[in-house]
Amino acid sequence: MAHQLPALPYGFDALEPFIDEATMRLHHGKHHQAYIDNLNKAVTGTALENVPAELLLKDLPAVPEGIRNVVRNHGGGHANHSLFWEVMAPGAGGVPTGPVAEAITGAFGSFESFKERLTAAAMGQFGSGWGWLVVKKDGSLAVGNTPNQDSPLSVGDTPILGVDVWEHAYYLRYQNRRAEYLQSWYSVVNWSRVNDLLRQARG
Ligand SMILES: [Fe+2]
Repeated sequence: MAHQLPALPYGFDALEPFIDEATMRLHHGKHHQAYIDNLNKAVTGTALENVPAELLLKDLPAVPEGIRNVVRNHGGGHANHSLFWEVMAPGAGGVPTGPVAEAITGAFGSFESFKERLTAAAMGQFGSGWGWLVVKKDGSLAVGNTPNQDSPLSVGDTPILGVDVWEHAYYLRYQNRRAEYLQSWYSVVNWSRVNDLLRQARG
């Protein structure tokens, strides 16, 4: 199969106590795997079989109509989760340094103000979806959200940090307390990786 589940770059229990082991096992092994399985089912045997999900999402109108929604939902689920695992790490969190710190201060005034905006975007996403820090085409930063598994790539933005606010991301430990989950999640943000992604996005 063309699309494969990426290995987690740390142990399932490595993000404890902020993200619990049982959630990580289910989220990675079952939820992410299901997006990949459904994406593979849709593209296998077509000309798009070996096209990375990110490229498909960048140009959804080019995807045949019969599989476009599957690619949007399950290709989106694959790409979004692949990013999500990378932008978390054990012993991470805190205040960013480097280019992303400067870019955040420039765009939002301060790191605290950025956190408030991202938290509000993630809290304000009704139902399932994502909160994002993206790089716009002009290289500037913006905060936003998307419903379901919609990717910022589909509207021309490059996500460099994303937080999953589907209940499957937090329900076992936090039940319905999305705000508490979000506050904990900042303790595992891998700013080093976000810096790499910012550099790549700005080319
Ligand atoms: Fe998820």
